[in-house]
Amino acid sequence: MVQATRKFSRLRSLGIVTAGAAALYMGITAYNNQDNFYRSFVMPVARILPAETSHNLAVWACKHRLYPASDYTDDLNLHCSFFGRLISNPIGIAAGFDKNAEAIMGLKDLGFGFIEVGSVTPLAQSGNPKPRVFRLVDDRAIINRYGFNSEGHDVVLKRLRDLRQREDFNAIVGVNLGRNRDTMTPIGDYVKGVRTFGPVADYLVINVSSPNTKGLREMQSKKELTELLEAVNAARGKLKVNPNVPILLKLSPDLERRELIDIISVINNKKCRVDGLIVSNTTLSRDNINDISLANEAGGLSGEPLRERSTKMIAQVYSLTKGSIPIIGVGGVASGNDAFEKIEAGASFVQIYTALVYEGPEVVERIKSDLSMRLSELGLANVGRAVGSNYSKYLP
Ligand SMILES: Cc1cc2nc3c(=O)[nH]c(=O)nc-3n(C[C@H](O)[C@H](O)[C@H](O)COP(=O)(O)O)c2cc1C
Repeated sequence: MVQATRKFSRLRSLGIVTAGAAALYMGITAYNNQDNFYRSFVMPVARILPAETSHNLAVWACKHRLYPASDYTDDLNLHCSFFGRLISNPIGIAAGFDKNAEAIMGLKDLGFGFIEVGSVTPLAQSGNPKPRVFRLVDDRAIINRYGFNSEGHDVVLKRLRDLRQREDFNAIVGVNLGRNRDTMTPIGDYVKGVRTFGPVADYLVINVSSPNTKGLREMQSKKELTELLEAVNAARGKLKVNPNVPILLKLSPDLERRELIDIISVINNKKCRVDGLIVSNTTLSRDNINDISLANEAGGLSGEPLRERSTKMIAQVYSLTKGSIPIIGVGGVASGNDAFEKIEAGASFVQIYTALVYEGPEVVERIKSDLSMRLSELGLANVGRAVGSNYSKYLP
């Protein structure tokens, strides 16, 4: 009996020592060789967990600033003007990662030039039943049908207000606006979003392109979009604080050319003006998918299989607008080269999401340093010089 207790105690000590050593090793590695640490340890472990659990964990880790802050200094050639504000690089985190504005400071630590939170709905809602996020690992892709799970305007507003009070707050934050699933006043939901977040946001996004809320993408049609954009413009005009807050419209990559032409004719109308376009949201298409076991899951597809589709759409929008409106390019960016393609197709700024899931947080640094090097090799003093420089290459 005594022997058994001693054996158990020795085993327990051994366990503690081993776990301690492993933790120490992980800690040291995290600081010395982040790239390897995330790719070979954290990301594979995170992938064992259900996709939504690892998403929540990643948000939690950012919220508590557990990821070491990036010590990469953005090269001068990445500096750019973002709707009148200077940012040190054009790479942002796309909507849907930090839906409730919990992790802004942690995301800033990773080196993002700007951060988009949301989509936020006026009232809190839980979204679609689980499971609702799926990793298509071989395709470096995700299918999600979250359906706007949101803590709602009040909670998110309080977080943003509190954040802006902080002395160390120095991020550019956009708020992506959604609408409640069962709303009787879809346009009213966006108007509420403008009134609520206009005073605390660096930009607002009208998201009528998520595929997981019934009837949402129809709001991109000419008639509905005209009504919507007139209403949000009027609401912005009445803001006492920040009445010039930039409003961006986020588009679906599944729009046809004639629908794009309609949208551009709408935003050319002064009453429906938007300051920028985000191209693009997730797609319903399942082209270029190898993981056929998950391809039939309903939802929006993001990541590598979306990359070319969204780049082509950026080029189309750039060509149709003659470069007159800034575009944020998003869809399948995982490298400096992918970011450069979005930029030469016409994007002034680039966002990422899915690459963060597969590559880990150090992907931000990698994209920035490779992009900066590419600009130098091409003799371009500034990223702005590359915008739209080769858009015709991506036109059909
Ligand atoms: C899990 C998940 C949730 C998302 N949620 C939103 C959202 O709430 N609002 C939105 O506008 N876009 C949302 N998106 C779309 C992304 O913002 C982005 O447009 C899309 O994923 C393409 O970029 P990526 O290929 O780099 O991921 C979501 C994407 C993913 C993967």
